[in-house]
Amino acid sequence: MALRTVRVIGDDVLRKNCREVKEVNERILTLIDDMLDTMYEANGVGLAAPQVGVLKRVVVIDVGEGPIVMINPVILETSGEQTGDEGCLSLPGKSGVVTRPDYVKAKAFDEEMQEYEIEGTGLLARAICHECDHLNGVLYVDKVEGELHTVDYSDVEE
Ligand code: NI
Repeated sequence: MALRTVRVIGDDVLRKNCREVKEVNERILTLIDDMLDTMYEANGVGLAAPQVGVLKRVVVIDVGEGPIVMINPVILETSGEQTGDEGCLSLPGKSGVVTRPDYVKAKAFDEEMQEYEIEGTGLLARAICHECDHLNGVLYVDKVEGELHTVDYSDVEE
């Protein structure tokens, strides 16, 4: 188990565009393992590689249904709308209201570089959108409606 340091807002690395992964090598596999460890340790539901200082298109998500690894994710379809509280491990102790699609269909590659599609509603749809935004240097604060709120650490979700 290896934890990586989560970068917090103000760190330039969170505002960069990430590069596509061309090949899943040992370094990428270690990155994915470390990202999962780091996400679970922080009680997050998602983490994107730039949040640990790596500018690659890799995200991990777990909304309570097991780990999802997305390499080079692309959102194919969205529909509906949900408005609710959102947090981010890069803004510890904060949350804010963000409107997201309520349904998302995306494609990505897994750790064997096999392409797959995934559909999600509710929290999973929100997490996919939030994490894909990270790969383009976008943070939820760019989309927040109203003020950020201070929350207990136990309530921080993403
Ligand atoms: Ni985040």
